[in-house]
Amino acid sequence: MAVVSGPVTPGQVSFLLGIIPVFIAWIYSECLEYKKSSSPSKFHSDSNLVEMENASIKEDDRAVLSEGGLTKSASTNLSTPSIKTNLFRFLTMHHSFLLENRQILRATSEFGGVLFYFYICDRTNLFPDSTKSYNRDLFLFLYILLIITSAITSLKKHTDKSAFFGKSILYLNRHQTEEWKGWMQVLFLMYHYFAASEIYNAIRVFIAAYVWMTGFGNFSYYYIRKDYSVARFAQTMWRLNFFVAFCCIVLNNDYMLYYICPMHTIFTLMVYGTLGIGHNYNEIKSVMVLKILMCFLVVILVWEIPGVFDLVWSPFTFLLGYTDPAKPNLPRLHEWHFRSGLDRYIWIIGMIYAYFHPNVEKWMEKLEECDVKWRRSIKTLVVIVSSIVGYLWYEFIYKLDRVTYIKLHPYTSWIPITVYICLRNSCQQLRNFSLTLFAWLGKVTLETYISQFHIWLRSNMPNGQPRWLLSLIPNYPLLNFMLTTAIYILVSYRVFELTNTLKSAFIPTRDNKKLLYNFVAGASICGCLYSISFILLRIPH
Ligand SMILES: *[C@@H]1O[C@H](CO)[C@@H](O)[C@H](O)[C@H]1NC(C)=O
Repeated sequence: MAVVSGPVTPGQVSFLLGIIPVFIAWIYSECLEYKKSSSPSKFHSDSNLVEMENASIKEDDRAVLSEGGLTKSASTNLSTPSIKTNLFRFLTMHHSFLLENRQILRATSEFGGVLFYFYICDRTNLFPDSTKSYNRDLFLFLYILLIITSAITSLKKHTDKSAFFGKSILYLNRHQTEEWKGWMQVLFLMYHYFAASEIYNAIRVFIAAYVWMTGFGNFSYYYIRKDYSVARFAQTMWRLNFFVAFCCIVLNNDYMLYYICPMHTIFTLMVYGTLGIGHNYNEIKSVMVLKILMCFLVVILVWEIPGVFDLVWSPFTFLLGYTDPAKPNLPRLHEWHFRSGLDRYIWIIGMIYAYFHPNVEKWMEKLEECDVKWRRSIKTLVVIVSSIVGYLWYEFIYKLDRVTYIKLHPYTSWIPITVYICLRNSCQQLRNFSLTLFAWLGKVTLETYISQFHIWLRSNMPNGQPRWLLSLIPNYPLLNFMLTTAIYILVSYRVFELTNTLKSAFIPTRDNKKLLYNFVAGASICGCLYSISFILLRIPH
């Protein structure tokens, strides 16, 4: 398949203009560091790194963070120069600036290197490509092999205690949701790699489960922590969109090509809006019921009443529009309508489950205290009922052909999700254990999702769906699968870490003024680079 790299865009030129000086500065800073460490005098060159690492270590621990963050910003306010001075110091390659920011320069350069590798793999003929082929036997063999490997090497018993009575482990705890994301993600990716179209309907359920978790996780977070700060919000948006934004720029793709990203962003915003508007009244039951009803009402209005969808979303076509080069005649918003429509209700269901989570947990604690007979019979009943419901869903809904299935999906995807939650949490022993290998994969789902398009599969053209495979070892499909998968997972994991490192470098946690300055500075630098590139491309050769 001949590669179509398309004309060079201003975005790509801006990226080069931006990354080359950073790369040079980084190399220079490493030289300075080397020279300095071989000479006897000592500076605190890594102070920024220490600070950054502290910030990322403390990230999960909000209580500690709020104290640490306060003292940190108080101290950095005194010592860090303004953005203008910093920019000046960068442009003049000021030695102390380079030494102080060596780690950030290194992370940025590595990130640039990753994107360069993406471009080489997907938009040049340096490596060949191959076609997909599906064999159910091989597909299941690989998947089950992974389950066995992970069971042997990474089965772990957790001992985190419940928030209420401290006796048993929470149902739907974090280990469990991450493991859940992980095993679904592996199937989702293998479905793409092998073009396993026979599990199409299952994949739709998995995507619904991710969106369910977006509703569930974000609702719990905002409801319990009540942290509606700009910094927290900026961090979430950074986490969701930083990497994908650069992929769009460098590979000249529409945002909608990576539809998972806009979808999770929008639904996260909806959850944020639902809880954030009038958040002082969230404790009142009737207010909460009203809010949830409003969510349903909004979704019904926008997605079920013809015409409203286009009215609401057409102003955002520049962001959410997408045209597949293989199907150029569909409307620009078709993809967004289809993808968002499939999971339009499930994020609300996730919020409802999160709302009742503490209650259900209390019941479960009570159940654990009942005598053995009662406990056993109730648990058995739950398992039997869920199994029957699951079976009926499988028989009468899942097995439908994809066109009919898709019509029912928005209204029925909660069934398999609920059945899974009930079965997975049906007994204490099952709840305590998780496969940490899958949980590890579950942490980097966003990165593996985005990277697959370019360094595992191939799209070969701007906005193309990844219909080919990257082939580093031609004619040895299995060896090639092994090698590309290893590189791909490694790169995805690095991107996950780099996104976090750069996030803590650019998004201060407790200093909104600095955040605003950073934002304005970032936007102006991008604007300048873009204008220069635009003009450069206009100059006739
Ligand atoms: C909110 O949802 C987004 C998208 O799924 C996710 O990345 C993020 O971790 C969620 N936030 C919390 C606190 O669970």
